[in-house]
Amino acid sequence: MKHPPLFEVYPDLREQIPWIPILSTPTPTRQLTNLQQVVNTNEEIWVKLDNLTSEKYGGNKVRKLEFLIADALQQEKHQIATLGGLGTNHGLATTIHGQANNLATRLYLTPQPITTHVRMNLKLLYHFGADMIYSETRRRANFRFRFLDRISQRGTYWLPLGGSTALGVLGYVNAVLELLNQITTGELPEPRLIYIPVGSLGTIAGIDLGLQLTNLSTKVKGICVAPHLPPTKSLNQLIEGALRLLQQSPQLTDFTYQPRYELTMDYSGSGYGVVTDAGTEASQLALELEAIQLDPTYTAKTLAGVIDAARKGEKGPILYWHTFNSVDLSTIANSIDYQDLPSVFHRFFTNG
Ligand SMILES: Cc1ncc(COP(=O)(O)O)c(C=O)c1O
Repeated sequence: MKHPPLFEVYPDLREQIPWIPILSTPTPTRQLTNLQQVVNTNEEIWVKLDNLTSEKYGGNKVRKLEFLIADALQQEKHQIATLGGLGTNHGLATTIHGQANNLATRLYLTPQPITTHVRMNLKLLYHFGADMIYSETRRRANFRFRFLDRISQRGTYWLPLGGSTALGVLGYVNAVLELLNQITTGELPEPRLIYIPVGSLGTIAGIDLGLQLTNLSTKVKGICVAPHLPPTKSLNQLIEGALRLLQQSPQLTDFTYQPRYELTMDYSGSGYGVVTDAGTEASQLALELEAIQLDPTYTAKTLAGVIDAARKGEKGPILYWHTFNSVDLSTIANSIDYQDLPSVFHRFFTNG
């Protein structure tokens, strides 16, 4: 079996950290020359195509799931329970890759603005067999997830929002080591800045920690997708937790981490899942110029940040890390009648 870069660099971790191969990696990189031209910059803009992490269902969550599903299997669980908005990409990734590894998925879903994307994901969650539980508020969903249902749901792996646990973070530490290999072999230049969406914090946590484990001077800029700054305390704790796992390797005993990430709310718009004008422009440009499909919640806001920075003369090379699945499941979704879903979800297809 081919080892992930993390185990190539730190072989002692092979015995310590659960992992199963799910990814089709390395994911490709390419220069976005058409976009550069249209936004009128001489600086290089590159993309890392994590939409292609898997042929079943790609995107950033798959990198975390290599570690998390392995952990659930090692603990002999039969299902994974997790939370998300109605259109959760994380929930869908968990359901599809869980099913491929004989794990059922139980999803605690909470309200978010209803878009075509949300409706499609709801149908897909149903199609791939998720046990879908709807709560009117996050508080209620959290209560069931954290306390109430733990008694009745034995044999469950309780996975926090977005799969952002210390173990899940290792997915993006691994991703940065993969990127380092690509830089070393000359596939792309060393980026000055990486742009990444920030939701449940796991992805940026892994990137910042990963960058510091390399000798790259690249910095990561996190685009917050809702108009409140995520608690940096939680982010730092997540990183420290991941580092403790890594320090099971004697190679890292003396390694210390200093936060180098930057977070911005400049592109978040008025709420989670709320479409922004800049995001809509970014989606159009990405599709027309580079054949890249963005989602309105995460990646459109992030590329909007890249475009704005480029127009304002930000120095490159800039790496836009694309995190949205591109496996087209619309035929499956279109074949599902929403009335087959549990009745509590019907209103999301009939209103508006
Ligand atoms: C497409 C996409 N990009 C980025 C993110 C954010 O990643 P994280 O939750 O690790 O911050 C998500 C989270 O669901 C996502 O679906």
